[in-house]
Amino acid sequence: MNREYAEDGVVLRPIGVIRSPYEDPVGMPIQPGGARGVRGAVEIFPEFGDGLADLEGFSRVILIYLFHRSVGHALRVVPFLDVRERGVFATRAPRRPNPIGLSVVRLVGVEGYRLAIEDVDILDGTPLLDIKPYIPSIDAFPDEREGWFGECDRDVREVRADRRFVGDPTGE
Ligand SMILES: C[S@@+](CC[C@H](N)C(=O)[O-])C[C@H]1O[C@@H](n2cnc3c(N)ncnc32)[C@H](O)[C@@H]1O
Repeated sequence: MNREYAEDGVVLRPIGVIRSPYEDPVGMPIQPGGARGVRGAVEIFPEFGDGLADLEGFSRVILIYLFHRSVGHALRVVPFLDVRERGVFATRAPRRPNPIGLSVVRLVGVEGYRLAIEDVDILDGTPLLDIKPYIPSIDAFPDEREGWFGECDRDVREVRADRRFVGDPTGE
């Protein structure tokens, strides 16, 4: 790896904005599986619109985005689905060193530069970094180990986000 990336960081340019019914991170679904049927949209900036060609054939897409309302980071967190502290990289917690989120949402339709989506666990106004097609034969490995998640007895469909990742963990 080029050391310069580690030292200088990288600059990513959003390709669009995610729209959803959620303006408050507290009380909303914590994963697409808990947001079944929740409608939203992706608005692609016109200069990237041509890249949407051929996307309509996929029923799910992977959205990669910035947790823009996340402040600071913590290397140990108690995830929404657990009561024990875990290393942040073993969780999907929003407050991470690079605040990048990933959601596999249902693609309902493509109209111009706008995607209609469902199963949205993302805040309204979230900057979108990338879209990739979800391809079950490539992306799904249903028989693999799930770490602590496999032991948790909370149902992702019922748990809602609380205040634990709101604000700066340093207290500033
Ligand atoms: C546990 S994260 C999981 C997100 C994604 N599915 C993932 O695995 O990366 C979902 C929670 O992040 C918070 N969240 C969603 N969008 C956010 C944003 N743009 N900035 C900060 N927090 C956000 C909300 O509290 C939401 O319930």
